[in-house]
Amino acid sequence: MIKILSIIGARPQIIKAAAFSRAVKNKFSSFINEKILHTGQHYDFNMSQIFFDELDIPKPDFNLNVGSGSHGEQTAKMISGIEQLLLNEPFDALLVYGDTNSTLAGAVAASKLHIPIIHIEAGLRSFNMLMPEEINRIVCDHLSSLLFTPTETGFQNLKNEGFFTSKSTFKNGKKRFVFNSGDIMYDNSLHFAQIAEKKSNILQKYNLITDHYVLVTIHRDNNTDDCKRLTAIFTALLDIAEDNNIKIILPLHPRTTKLLQTNLSSVVYKRLNSSKQLFLIPPVSFLEMILLEKNAKIIMTDSGGVQKEAYFFQKPCVILRPETEWVEIVEQNAGIIADADCDRIKKSYRELLNKKITYLPVFGKGQAAEYIVEKIIDYFT
Ligand code: UD1
Ligand code: UDP
Repeated sequence: MIKILSIIGARPQIIKAAAFSRAVKNKFSSFINEKILHTGQHYDFNMSQIFFDELDIPKPDFNLNVGSGSHGEQTAKMISGIEQLLLNEPFDALLVYGDTNSTLAGAVAASKLHIPIIHIEAGLRSFNMLMPEEINRIVCDHLSSLLFTPTETGFQNLKNEGFFTSKSTFKNGKKRFVFNSGDIMYDNSLHFAQIAEKKSNILQKYNLITDHYVLVTIHRDNNTDDCKRLTAIFTALLDIAEDNNIKIILPLHPRTTKLLQTNLSSVVYKRLNSSKQLFLIPPVSFLEMILLEKNAKIIMTDSGGVQKEAYFFQKPCVILRPETEWVEIVEQNAGIIADADCDRIKKSYRELLNKKITYLPVFGKGQAAEYIVEKIIDYFT
């Protein structure tokens, strides 16, 4: 039996954990004993517990309840808590997802104790070191023993960084292995799409008609914390809603909610409050989000996960960032990088609605979790 400690903390990691835990439970429970540690990075009901309730994710065995804080403070509390646990209880491996502070903390704590690290969603690069996530993912990749990239681009990025010539050997005597597993989020979108149809009535709740609304999410620190950028994005959204007489629905991350009043210009803040077409709503559940994505005319986002889900559900996507790790989406003409530039956002909206898009299967086959578990079993037996 291989005993694994999975680290989760932020919303997208909780969702990703659903796919891995489902694969273990359905097919591999006699090989893998998974325990889950929630760092407590996200803690509001609709940023955390809602996903456990809805997606059948096992209750975390441990919760550090670290809450919010500066990068150093938050990450330090996590490292300390994870280290304590790893010292108290033996694990064969530690598993982390993506690129958040919870990912970094897990990787740092385990590496110092010579516990092999499994990194799911490895190899992604924005080549923008101003992003906290870029720092987290580079460190985590370099500390990991088993790396699973979601795309061929991720695989090539690691090749370019010398991962395939690495001579480093880990304490268990094994070298590093890298696999392109496909995207574990795609597993979830396929698995939960039908279930969402039956269980959610979010379209009725907000009077939304298929193909007659735009879905938007915004939460990146470089957008929320920068008055100029946040104001430019919201100006573009308000203009698009008015010029096209279309509803915009925006499930708002708590980070963004907290900063709207202080970081939007007073003119745009007033416009937003009196708008009859732009609706700010609290963060929604994953099943609700899937339905919002599937039925939207177009999606605009700075989220990594939402960019991909737009692609999975064959929706064009305006990317509200200066670059993307998910370059395949742009290469397929399914997304345009508009950054936080008001004119570019409006132009990209128009352009994407008139584009012929082919959605090639660049994120795998939707069976990433099973593939990953099989490779983990091979590695440890
Ligand atoms: C984090 C990740 C980011 C990921 C995002 C997913 C890092 C560095 N960033 O960003 O990569 O895309 O999660 O959503 O790890 N807050 C609440 N309630 C909560 C959680 C957060 O009110 O349940 C507020 C707090 O004011 C907090 C702020 O949101 O300070 C930011 O939260 P934090 O977890 O630090 O970063 P995210 O922006 O969520
Ligand atoms: N999501 C959700 N409810 C929301 C917004 C997003 O369930 O109100 C889901 C979304 O479908 C995707 C994941 O959260 O699976 C993306 O998380 P987020 O945008 O917070 O982070 P990122 O992917 O950018 O790291």
